Amino acid sequence: MKNVKVAILGMGTVGGGIYQLIEQEGKNIEHKDGIRLEVKKTLALSYAVDVPEEKKAGNIDEIVSDPEISIVAEVMGGQHPSKEFILKALEAGKTVVSANKDMISQNWPDLEAAAKRSGAGFYFEAAVGGGIPILRALNDSMQANSIDRIYGIVNGTTNYILTKMDDEGRDFADVLKEAQELGYAEANPESDVEGYDARYKLSILASMAFHARVPVDKIYCEGITKITKADIAIGRELGYVVKLLAIGKKDADGSIEVRVHPTMIRKDHALASIKGSFNAIFINGSAVGEMMWYGKGAGDFPTASALVSDMVYAVHNADYPRYATFENTYGADGVKFNDNW
Ligand code: HSE
Repeated sequence: MKNVKVAILGMGTVGGGIYQLIEQEGKNIEHKDGIRLEVKKTLALSYAVDVPEEKKAGNIDEIVSDPEISIVAEVMGGQHPSKEFILKALEAGKTVVSANKDMISQNWPDLEAAAKRSGAGFYFEAAVGGGIPILRALNDSMQANSIDRIYGIVNGTTNYILTKMDDEGRDFADVLKEAQELGYAEANPESDVEGYDARYKLSILASMAFHARVPVDKIYCEGITKITKADIAIGRELGYVVKLLAIGKKDADGSIEVRVHPTMIRKDHALASIKGSFNAIFINGSAVGEMMWYGKGAGDFPTASALVSDMVYAVHNADYPRYATFENTYGADGVKFNDNW
């Protein structure tokens, strides 16, 4: 049995989910993986679940200087101090698992470089698609494919809002409040409803799918704040459903097109049936053809599912951490973007 002590930074909805999931699934993980996960420390300003006082750290240094802690889960969100905390942990040789799409999409090269310098693992399955194991699939299981299309619904809050507006004829603001109460929305829901959250996720997805760094600012972005009940009703009459889609395409000439915007999709398209906070991601691979991944894209346990699975994966791969390395970086060797919006 391998004893693995972990720390959790941020104890809101997702941090609480990790804490409870390790308690609930710990025995199964021991049984099938031979790994005993134990939360030794947490660091947070407020706690969504009860945690004993001795498991509460006073500051990040208490965690990174603890030789017993080998994995740090960062679920604080936002840019600061999460970036500084993650860098400290990676530099100290701790594996980091994170759900922070905002920060990772904008600082990926620095974070990955820090991980490589110390040989630490750096995994962020939870950053895209909540519990859907899409990043692992792209990085580990699709090597025999060139991917030319990746698109789907990657924001649970907006899908929840659009679904309720459509099914129940409700107003945008009313449903947004409900999505916040359910723990789907970001602390600042502007990120969800303006499409920024989907843009961060598409930056990560497209980078991994196309093996080229796709910076956030190369992605066209339009949210759902201007969508009205009337738009949805007219779409429905014409046989369409409104969804916020994140779309990545690689054209025959190698240029990459990436955009996030509300899209009318035909009622009989598989994506039209994705309701509530569920996410769904389509991929077209040269060998495998079309695939669709579907599952819960937000919430405590679905997101914790990806984070705790990353911990187990990290332990199994500790000797040779798996990085999402790119040789092609925008501007360095001619990766072209089709951005004539
Ligand atoms: N606010 C995000 C969403 C949470 O609604 O999808 C999961 O990333």
